[in-house]
Amino acid sequence: MDALALPIQHDLEALEACLDSLTESRFRQVPEVSRYLIHAGGKRIRPVACFLACRLFDPPHPGRIHVAAAIELLHTATLLHDDIVDQATLRRGRPSANARFGNQLTVLVGDYLLSRATLTLIGLKNFPTLEVFAQTAKAMAEGEVLQLGYQGLSNLSPKGYLTLIFRKTASLMGTSTGAAALLHTSDPKAFKALKAYGVYVGYAFQIMDDVLDYVARSDGFGKERFKDIKEGKVTLPLLLALKKAKASERRFLENLLAERAVPDGAEQDLLDVLERTKSISRAKRTAEAFIEKASDALLPFEGHSAVSSLKALGRFVIERTR
Ligand code: IPE
Ligand code: IPE
Ligand code: MG
Ligand code: MG
Repeated sequence: MDALALPIQHDLEALEACLDSLTESRFRQVPEVSRYLIHAGGKRIRPVACFLACRLFDPPHPGRIHVAAAIELLHTATLLHDDIVDQATLRRGRPSANARFGNQLTVLVGDYLLSRATLTLIGLKNFPTLEVFAQTAKAMAEGEVLQLGYQGLSNLSPKGYLTLIFRKTASLMGTSTGAAALLHTSDPKAFKALKAYGVYVGYAFQIMDDVLDYVARSDGFGKERFKDIKEGKVTLPLLLALKKAKASERRFLENLLAERAVPDGAEQDLLDVLERTKSISRAKRTAEAFIEKASDALLPFEGHSAVSSLKALGRFVIERTR
C-alpha cells in the first residue's frame, strides 16, 4: 500500500489537512470523537482509489482533495454507526468510538460527519458528484438495514450476499473512482468504466474482509476475530461451508450461528470445517475473479501509466492482512 501511495503522496497529505479542517467545530465533542477515529490509522483505501483514478486525467482537478475527503468522512460516519449497530468494541486496533464515548455521542457525530461531507460536495458545485455521493449514502443505509434482516439466516443465497455487499461496500468504492471521472469529464464512458472498476474492487474488498474475519490475526486486522458469527452474519466463507457441509458439520455451524458465539474450544473445529469444504480458498477465488473484472473495466484507459497503479491496488485488496 505504501508503494502504491507514493505517486499520490501530496494528495494524501492534503487529504489529512482537509479532514482536520472538516472536523472542526465550536462544539468540542465533534472534533474529539471524529478525530479519535480518523487519527486511528485507517487505510484510506477509498481516497487512494480516487486519487489514482484522478491521475488518468491531465491536469488533475484541484477539487479531488475535497471529493476524497467527503468520501472518507462518509466512510467514517458509517463506521461510527456500524459499530453501534454491531455492538463492536474494537476498531483499528483500539476501543471503538461507541465503547469509548458511548452510543449517544457517537451516533450524533456520525450524523454530523455525513452533513459535513454533503456540504463539502455542495461547495464544489459539481452536481453529478453530489448525486452519486447521495445515491451511495442511501445504498449504504439500505445495506445496513438489509443486513439486520439477514441476521442469523443460515440459508442466505449467494445472490442475497452479493446484493448486500454491493450496498454496504462496493457502491462507495465505485463512487470513489467514478467521482474521479465526473470531476474531469462529461464523457459517460469514462464514468461507466471507472465506476465499474471501483464496484468490482469493492466486491473483492468486502469478500476479503469477510475472509479475514476468519483467518486474520486480530492484532493486525484491528477487529475482533470470528465477529461475523458473533453478529449472526452469514458471509461468503460461511455460506460456502454451509452448502458443502455434511449433516453433522452443518448442525455445528448452525449452532454457532444460533448461539452467536464461537467458544474457544470450537475455534479449531470451525477452521477445520472451513478447510475441509475449501470455503476460504473458494471465497478468495471469488474475490480474485472480481479483481480480474475490475482490471478488464480499465480497458478504455489501457496504455495510460496510472492503469498499472489501479491494477496494483486490486492486488493489494487480495493480499491485505488488515
Ligand atoms: C472497513 O473498511 C469496513 C468495510 C467496508 C469492510 P476499511 O477496511 O477500509 O477500514 P479502515 O478505514 O481501513 O479502518
Ligand atoms: C462495514 O460493515 C461497515 C459498512 C460498510 C457500513 P461490517 O460490519 O461488515 O464491517 P466491520 O467488520 O464492522 O468493519
Ligand atoms: Mg461491523
Ligand atoms: Mg466484517
